[in-house]
This record gives sequence, C-alpha cells and structure tokens, in this order.
Amino acid sequence: MAANFGDFQDGVYAEAVRGVTTRYPFFASIERKASEALPDWVYRYASAAAGDGRTQRANIAAFSCYGIVPRMMVSPPERDLSIQLFGKRLASPMFLAPIGLVGLCAPDFHGDVAAAQASAATGVPYTLSTFTQTRMGDVITHAGETPSFFQLYLPADRELAASLINRAETSGYSALVVTVDSWTLGFRPMDLERGNFPQFRGFCMQNYYTDANFTKHLAKPPEEAQPAALAHYTKIFANPLSWEDLRWIRTQTKLPVAIKGFNTPTIDNGADVLYCTNHGGRQANSAVSTLQLLPGVVKAAGSTPVMFDSGVRSAR
Ligand SMILES: Cc1cc2nc3c(=O)[nH]c(=O)nc-3n(C[C@H](O)[C@H](O)[C@H](O)COP(=O)(O)O)c2cc1C
Repeated sequence: MAANFGDFQDGVYAEAVRGVTTRYPFFASIERKASEALPDWVYRYASAAAGDGRTQRANIAAFSCYGIVPRMMVSPPERDLSIQLFGKRLASPMFLAPIGLVGLCAPDFHGDVAAAQASAATGVPYTLSTFTQTRMGDVITHAGETPSFFQLYLPADRELAASLINRAETSGYSALVVTVDSWTLGFRPMDLERGNFPQFRGFCMQNYYTDANFTKHLAKPPEEAQPAALAHYTKIFANPLSWEDLRWIRTQTKLPVAIKGFNTPTIDNGADVLYCTNHGGRQANSAVSTLQLLPGVVKAAGSTPVMFDSGVRSAR
C-alpha cells in the first residue's frame, strides 16, 4: 500500500514512549512558538491584517460553516491524493503559498531556503515570493525534486518584469503565480502604528537587488545607498494589472500562469490556473471570505484548475 501521510503520527507516539517530546508544533502552539521565536517586528508583520481584521477573521470563521463527509468502506482502500497542476504530478493537493518575509523567519534570515528544504522533504510545492532574502536562483537549488512556483508582483518597468520572468523560467520554476490584488498596499494599522515595513529597511529585496535591470537605474549599489534603491522600488512596484498585461506576460514565457487574487465569477482568458484568495485578509478589509466565493469561482472556471487559500489553519 502507498505511504499514508498520516503515518508520521506513529513516529510521534513512538518517540514519546522513548521520552522524546515532539518537535512538531501542534494546535495553537504554532502561533505561540512563532511569537516566542521571532523578532517582534517580524512576528507583527507576519500576523498583521488589513483594517480591523474582519476579513482575516471571516476567512477562518467561514470554515466552521462547511464540513466534510468522510467516506468509509470504499475500495480501493489506498488513498490517492495526487493531482495534476501546472503539468506536474503532485503527491497531494497542498502547496506552500508565497510569503514575502518568510526569509526573515529563520535564525539566519534565510527562511526562503528553509522553506524550500521543507518542500524537498515533503513533496509539497513551494511558491517563492518576489520578496526574498535569498535570490530565486539560489533558493530553488534546495527544493530537490519537488516542483517550485515563482510568485510575481509585476513591476511597472517592463524590462525588469521580463527579466524576473526569464530568471524564474531559466532557474527551473515550474509556473508563474501572478498576484493581482496588491498593486496598492493594504491598510494595516498594526504595521502603520510602528512604521513596520521590512522592505523599507532593505529586507527581502534580493530578487530586485540582484537584477541588472533594477540596479542600472541606481547611481550606487543598493547596499551602499538604500534610500535611493527604495525610492526606485517604490516607483516601479505599484502596477494595477489588466488582462492585457497577462497577455504580455504570456509573450515572455512558456511557463504556465496562475492569477492570484482573482475572486469574481467572470473570467476573461489567458490564465492556466485561477488562484482564489484575498491575501489572508491583508489587502482589502471587509472583503468577503474566500471560502464563500470559492464555489462561484470554480463554476466560472469550468475546466480551468482553481487554487485556494485564506483562512486555512493547521490540520484540524
Ligand atoms: C506575512 C505574509 C506575507 C505575504 N506575502 C505575500 C507575497 O509576497 N505574495 C503574495 O502573493 N502573497 C503573499 N501573502 C499572502 C499569502 O500568499 C496567502 O494568500 C495568505 O497568507 C493566505 O491566507 P491565510 O494565511 O489565512 O491562509 C503573504 C501573507 C503573509 C501572512
């Protein structure tokens, strides 16, 4: 019989018999342990929601309105959770969402690498954010056989955009995940209160800072003149996307493309995959929970695959 993903529990109980405390963060201890381990400003950035947090809460609450019906006594007894996505066979329908700043969530500030290593160990694909502490070409070397995806914030500068897309393709990423809901930054009081925006301190900018199409606009290397580098970044980051932009992206790459943050049940064309998400309630506050919108998106998508996140918590 094929490996069962639940089998790791046997190891936990067996270790406990030998007096070894589990290294897995079960239940709410994930959040508590993060708050103990991370620098305060990193923890705050990671947990901040837009506005008063109602969309972040709604995303989670929506899950208690739905349930599953476990099916028993069906054959074959083997569970096959594998799926086809972006032309790849994946062992399970799980993936790691892009988290800009995950680079800061490791003691050496190379959390992107740690997440890629976890992806290699589990076979769960990793989506690398545009915002990384380690440049994209170096991160993917740690992902082993597991396919990785690259999340793109399309810059207004087309030369830089083309370069980022090309680098993702030549480094070996299997898909582009184009985020469309963040061309203006969400209003996040928890971060605003403390002026907490790590990119403005030069963190997680490696994909920009290692790109000649970014640095050629600067008089000095970013490390020597952060304010000028950030002023340029601010100029090129914000870029509201249209279907026309998507068609342009297609001319730049053979990679399959997902649109992340598109939740309305009307679909133009050009996306290989629709990724239904409201950015975990970090962008538009008062946005309807993603789970509520999912049926409409799936219906409209027809045969186009749909990815999903927002409000997914632990294994419960
Ligand atoms: C700290 C943090 C950083 C994020 N950075 C990105 C990013 O760089 N690009 C992106 O497309 N989404 C980003 N997201 C959104 C996630 O990819 C995902 O859509 C969201 O976390 C899902 O919500 P959930 O955590 O409630 O499941 C970020 C989310 C968090 C919490």
